[in-house]
Amino acid sequence: MTDHVTSREGYANLSRMAFGFATSQILYAAVRLGVLDGLAAGALPVEQLAHSIGSDPGALNRLLRALVVLGVVDETAPGHFALAELGQPLRADHPLSMRSSVLLLGDPATWQAWGALTHGVRTGEAAFDHVHDQPLFDYLACHPDLSRIFNTAMREGTEQIAPAVPKAYDFTGVRTVVDIGGGNGALLAAIVAATPDVQGILFDTAEGGAGAAETFQRAGVSDRCSIEVGDFFDAVPEGDLLLVKGVLHDWDDERCTTLLRGCRKSIAAHGRLLVLEPVLPSTINTPEAAGVVMSDIAMLVYTGGRERSRDEFRHLLAAGGFDLADVTPPLRGSAIRILVANPA
Ligand SMILES: C[S@@+](CC[C@H](N)C(=O)[O-])C[C@H]1O[C@@H](n2cnc3c(N)ncnc32)[C@H](O)[C@@H]1O
Repeated sequence: MTDHVTSREGYANLSRMAFGFATSQILYAAVRLGVLDGLAAGALPVEQLAHSIGSDPGALNRLLRALVVLGVVDETAPGHFALAELGQPLRADHPLSMRSSVLLLGDPATWQAWGALTHGVRTGEAAFDHVHDQPLFDYLACHPDLSRIFNTAMREGTEQIAPAVPKAYDFTGVRTVVDIGGGNGALLAAIVAATPDVQGILFDTAEGGAGAAETFQRAGVSDRCSIEVGDFFDAVPEGDLLLVKGVLHDWDDERCTTLLRGCRKSIAAHGRLLVLEPVLPSTINTPEAAGVVMSDIAMLVYTGGRERSRDEFRHLLAAGGFDLADVTPPLRGSAIRILVANPA
């Protein structure tokens, strides 16, 4: 029997998939130990790097060889290593760094949750809750270091698409934008910076919004942005444009409906709700679908939430008191779209 799976290439593919966890932990260890930042200034012999980051030279040499295989590091001479082009965004000081995203994915707490995916699929419950006996956001509230990594990882992702948002949606005439679950404020800062006269309110928990003041200061919009702390399942601030990005996919339909009904109460009569989320296409055999499908599994692991199709969003929004009016194309090479909704 020689088919795709039993061919040499098929075995190699399956083997690569089965070892996927190792790739993730190799990147995590390299970032956590400071290997990539240690090589930022140029090539180093392994002994010197080991001394500067406090690692065993022999074991570090083995990690660096693995990083060479992944294309993240180059071996410039025997025992000498340099950061490759591919590895540059893993540096802390890279303008579009994804260092915190790697730290979040490889952290023991999130890592262990992936180990309970089987339980998640059997029961439909969030794997994270099963492993840690508490939901992700409660856990983050008790673990400030991981909370900081989480917030920075969210910002890293959001900064990639934030400049595209005021280009894809015209905010002219809007008086107050409320970013619900706005995290570190990267999206709100980009919208306010691009829109004269608009005021921004970032609404989040104390932990979630902890870095927002600094983001607003860096973007020069502190005078037009404020931060309000609260629980978005209780109530949200009033405004004529409410925004939720990367929030609905954290929750099941019931929790989302509660949140959306709160938005319906707070939104001005002629206001707009913008939902920024990946949208599951009707067929999964497309490059866009691949990312959304993987994110959907991640939601099952981390929070028990889910990604949704356009129709699923339409029904969810209707249950919350909104009509879905428009859906933009994906933003800037991501799978994220803006779903524009009017109060029903
Ligand atoms: C996945 S993050 C998205 C952050 C941000 N919108 C972005 O896309 O970068 C979800 C956000 O929801 C916030 N959040 C979770 N539960 C909340 C609650 N009950 N009330 C207010 N904010 C909450 C978290 O603190 C976090 O900032």
